[in-house]
Amino acid sequence: MKILAIESSCDETAVAVVEDGRRVLSSLINSQVEEHKLYGGVVPEIASRRHIENIGALAEGALTESGLTLSEIDAVAVTYAPGLIGALLVGVNFAKGLAASAGKPLIPVHHIRGHIAANYLAHPELKPPFLALIVSGGHTVIARAESYTDYRIFATTVDDAAGEAFDKVARVLGYPYPGGIYIDRAAREGNPKTYPLPIPSVEGRPDDFSFSGLKTAVINTVHNAEQKGETVCSADLAAGFQATAVRMLTTRFFSLAERLGEKKLVVAGGVAANSGLREALTRGAERSGSSLYIPPLSLCGDNAAMIGSQAYYEYLAGNLADSSLNACAYVPIDNCGI
Ligand code: KG4
Ligand code: ZN
Repeated sequence: MKILAIESSCDETAVAVVEDGRRVLSSLINSQVEEHKLYGGVVPEIASRRHIENIGALAEGALTESGLTLSEIDAVAVTYAPGLIGALLVGVNFAKGLAASAGKPLIPVHHIRGHIAANYLAHPELKPPFLALIVSGGHTVIARAESYTDYRIFATTVDDAAGEAFDKVARVLGYPYPGGIYIDRAAREGNPKTYPLPIPSVEGRPDDFSFSGLKTAVINTVHNAEQKGETVCSADLAAGFQATAVRMLTTRFFSLAERLGEKKLVVAGGVAANSGLREALTRGAERSGSSLYIPPLSLCGDNAAMIGSQAYYEYLAGNLADSSLNACAYVPIDNCGI
């Protein structure tokens, strides 16, 4: 089954054609990051406008690259939630128009389920059940995939998402948006022990994350140094922040996995590109005798191939939409009732 998939939940317009959930026939991404960089973060109105300008040509390009015509496509899939509402609406409306005009089924896909599905493209043998850690710019979730379309949430962030914390800390340290990659690079040159940082926990909820406290600790370190007329060593502070964030993510993930007796572990989302996190996860998986699945860097960030993969399994489960499909800014991964 060949699915044309559309992703426009944030600042990447993307269209892909994916066969049977596992084979990418084409995948195009138009990133707006250089424009949003000027403002230090994503400007929702600009994101929506650029999606409108780019989506038609990208869809045509993805079809051409796949070697297929629209009539040879079996279904149209689209990210309908979660994300920036105006940005999502562009993709949803385009997909609705395309599906209606071509007489194809319309498959709504949850963005975070899509991030997990990036692993189905990278690891042909991977099948649920497994325990997944999703770390992106908007989400930090540990969920068990009981099947391709049933999830149970075990932990979430109570404030900032992991990627959001990386981006905010990067901003304070003077790196451009999106700052995760700059923190990653700087951390390689820095000493993580120079600035001791706390690992915040959530009272009564030991599995959940709080990144806001960690971010504030970094900001306070910078301000205290400024008040004393000193300059902080950005590489050391980046290294300290990253080491703490990685410890927070990995200790909770591995302790939940142990408690649940889960030996198949999956990681996904933009922050899964972080080299410190990948190393710590690899070490932890070896220690606990678990199999670890992480996408290659090219599939960690937003793309439409992952949406096309998940769409196949949503289709098999009968999760289809009609022309009344709406975009939603927030829908939890375990509740995708359209
Ligand atoms: O999954 P994604 O592309 O978009 C969302 O769905 O949010 O994630 C983007 C996030 C940004 O916060 C970005 O800074 C972060 O992923 N990121 C990284 C790295 N590469 C991207 N964070 C830490 N280290 C990286 N190497
Ligand atoms: Zn994403």
